[in-house]
Amino acid sequence: MKGIKTLGQFIIEKQADFSYAKGELSRLLRDIGIASKIVNREVNKAGLADILGDAGSTNIQGEGQKKLDVFANEQFISALSSGGECCIVATEEEDDFVRIDSAVSHEAKYIVCIDPLDGSSNIDCNVAVGTIFSILRRKSVDGLATLADVLQKGTEQVAAGYVIYGSSTMLVYTTGKGVNGFTLDPSIGEFCLSHPDMKIPENGTIYSINEGNYVHFPEGIKKYIKYAQVEDTATKRPYTSRYIGSMVADIHRNLIKGGIYMYPTTAASPNGKLRLLYECNPMAFILEQAGGKATDGLNRIMEITPTELHQRSSIIIGSTKMVEKVEEFMREFSPVKSCN
Ligand code: AHG
Ligand code: MN
Ligand code: MN
Repeated sequence: MKGIKTLGQFIIEKQADFSYAKGELSRLLRDIGIASKIVNREVNKAGLADILGDAGSTNIQGEGQKKLDVFANEQFISALSSGGECCIVATEEEDDFVRIDSAVSHEAKYIVCIDPLDGSSNIDCNVAVGTIFSILRRKSVDGLATLADVLQKGTEQVAAGYVIYGSSTMLVYTTGKGVNGFTLDPSIGEFCLSHPDMKIPENGTIYSINEGNYVHFPEGIKKYIKYAQVEDTATKRPYTSRYIGSMVADIHRNLIKGGIYMYPTTAASPNGKLRLLYECNPMAFILEQAGGKATDGLNRIMEITPTELHQRSSIIIGSTKMVEKVEEFMREFSPVKSCN
C-alpha cells in the first residue's frame, strides 16, 4: 500500500480544510464515489448486459432517455438517499427535484445537482461518458428545503466533481481548494490519487465545438473559429480541433492538455444546450479551481442567477487565455446579446 492514497483516505485527510460540516460533506463525497463505482461496473459491461439502447422514455427536456441514463440516475439517488446528508437531488433525468424523505428527520443540509450520465448518446459505440455533480448547502433553516435552495449561483457551490468512464475511470473533484484527480484501480476497487493539484495550462492549442452548427453560432464565435484556423506560428495556430460529444471527456482532455470547449447558442438551442445547475456550474467551479475560466461568452458562468431547475446556458470554458480571446470576439461582434 506504500505510496497509494485512496479517495476515502484523501477526503478524511482534507476535511480539516472545510470550514463547516466536516464529516457530512466527506460522507456525501464518499457516497457519490460508491455510486460511481456501481455505474462504472455497468458502463463497462454495457455491451454484454441488456442495458444499451433507449429506455423508451423522455426526460422533461424532451431528450430520449437511455437505459443507462435511468440506471445511473437510480444509483445516485439511492446512494444519496441512504447516506442521510442530502435533502434534495436535482437531476437531469427527473422533471422536478427529488426530495429525500429519509433525510428529513436527519436535518440533512446538502443539495446535490447531478447529470448522472453525460454523453449518453455515445454509450452505444463505446465512447467515454461521465457523471457531473454539484453540491450546495441549503440556505433555508426551517421546514423542508425548497426550489429556492436549489436555485443558487455557482459561486455558492461547496464542492463539485465529475467522473469519466473512459479508457480508465477517474473521479475529479474540488471543494474550493484546488482540484484533485483519482483513478479507479479495478483490482482493488478503489479510486487512488493519481493527479494531485491539477492545473489547466494557461493557454492551449485545442478547440472543441460542434462545428456542424456553425451557421447558427453568434458572430463572435464564428470569428473565433476562423481565428483558430488561421496560420500563425507565434501563437501555434492553426489549433487542433477535437470534439468527442461528451462534455466530461472533452473538458477532461482540455484540462490536462490545455484547450477550450464551447457550446454556444444555436438555432436548435437558442439559450445554449447545456444545463446551468448540473453541467455548467460544476465544470466551471472545477476549471476555475484548476486556474481556468468559464463564461457564457460575456458573463462568468458561476455568477448567473438561476431561475429554473433545468435552465440552459451557453458555455465557453477552458484555458484562461483562450476563453479571454473568445470574450474579446464576443464583445466586439456579439456585444448586446450574450451567448444566452
Ligand atoms: P447528456 O448526455 O447529459 O444529455 O449531455 C450531452 C451533452 C454534452 O455531454 C455534449 O458535450 C453535448 O451534449 C453534445 O451535444 P451535440 O451532440 O449537440 O454536439
Ligand atoms: Mn450532460
Ligand atoms: Mn445526462
